[in-house]
Amino acid sequence: MTASRRTVLKSLAATALLPFAPRTAAAAVREFKLTAMPARQQIVPAKFGQTDIWGFNGTAPGPLLRAKQGERVKIVVENKLPEPTTVHWHGIRVPNDMDGVPGLTQKPIAPGSRFVYEFDLPDAGTYWYHPHSRSYEQVARGLYGAFIVEERAPITVDRDVTWVLSDFRLNQDATQRDDFDSLFDLTHGGRLGNAVAVNGRYTPKDGTFDVRSGERIRLRLINAASARIFELKFGGHAPRVIALDGQAVAPHAPEKDILVLAPGMRADLVIDCMQQPGTRHALIDENNPRRSVTLIEMVYSGERPLRDSPSPAPVALAPNPIPEPDLERAQRHEILFEGGAMGMLREAVVEGRRVPIQKLVREHGMAWTVNGIAVQEHSHDAMLTFERGKSYVLAMKNETMWPHPIHLHGHFFRVLTRDGRPTRHREWVDTVLMQPREAVEVAFVADNPGDWMFHCHVLHHQKGGMMAVFRVKG
Ligand code: C2O
Ligand code: CU
Repeated sequence: MTASRRTVLKSLAATALLPFAPRTAAAAVREFKLTAMPARQQIVPAKFGQTDIWGFNGTAPGPLLRAKQGERVKIVVENKLPEPTTVHWHGIRVPNDMDGVPGLTQKPIAPGSRFVYEFDLPDAGTYWYHPHSRSYEQVARGLYGAFIVEERAPITVDRDVTWVLSDFRLNQDATQRDDFDSLFDLTHGGRLGNAVAVNGRYTPKDGTFDVRSGERIRLRLINAASARIFELKFGGHAPRVIALDGQAVAPHAPEKDILVLAPGMRADLVIDCMQQPGTRHALIDENNPRRSVTLIEMVYSGERPLRDSPSPAPVALAPNPIPEPDLERAQRHEILFEGGAMGMLREAVVEGRRVPIQKLVREHGMAWTVNGIAVQEHSHDAMLTFERGKSYVLAMKNETMWPHPIHLHGHFFRVLTRDGRPTRHREWVDTVLMQPREAVEVAFVADNPGDWMFHCHVLHHQKGGMMAVFRVKG
């Protein structure tokens, strides 16, 4: 039986068994087609030449997928890469067998073959998709795209804009450097590119974003970079954060006016463009050794302003139906992250055996651990097993000298504390950035059965051992 036939039969069976019909028999399934393939793209200015990429439907980012909350989608993924792949729907609460993790939730999609993903969209928000197969290379080569799930009652804005942020590591002739196996990247901060891109174009020198004075923009930011943490300043503008990782948050200005976005994370902003017609304003990335590098320039048209003061329309989003953890009864687990350059890690457990750090790096190509264990493949034993429907607190400690954006599949968690202090917004996220030596507590209800990845989204750290599997018993 083909995968698509099996999926259809399964979903029919599931519908028949449910006491209430989640949708009418006639309800349409929204269909998409994604082909992972090598291609060429003009990333840097034309005089440098084109870049060889891997992209969905031949572009990086791939097509922007857009659907509505409550809809069902079917995505046919075809693999035209020279190696196996999968697609993971980052942040979308899918059934486990649709999660796109090779060796754990599905067989890798072999070159020349296809796989059909089909799932419901329970939550509105800004999500993204990317391979989970050798992602430190496949994502770095350009395989990623935005997945927007519209609210049932969207807020009113003049424009809804999505920026997929990433970077590429290019040679002088604009070809990609193929040093994906760099042990330096793996033991340090991951693979940083030398060409930062907004929607696949290098923007710092000649990138512009045209706006009209008075307009209100919803800007959806997605960090699809392998390792780069953006720290964005919106020169002369006062953005309000309305969602993090797709989840509604009380609208607020970014702390110290800098929006920090680590790999895997998303932020939805509302920006009222209140500067004068005909002016230009640099949007700055502060996280750079040279400091204050322009990411892109906002260019105001000469048109008369759309309005003279910011639109009074409300910007708060409705929350998604995420179960609230019961903190009184929650079971607590400690999670320790160790390793990396300048770290204290002396040895790690690899496949049940103790391995000294030098051997871990040289022979196994790993450098990081979760609770003392370094794993390389996706198929491995669950580190923690959760009871379905129960609440859990993960008390995480970053014992390394590097920042790590930690991502859990299939769930959202609330960020409760940082270094023991309650967070201001108790935000729901699927990826939380931990600074060096920082302690972070998160809580969630383990309500989605299956084996779920838990890993650092600096993809070379993931490659280097910083991942684990959490099992939610069905
Ligand atoms: Cu965005 Cu496990 O990934
Ligand atoms: Cu990391």
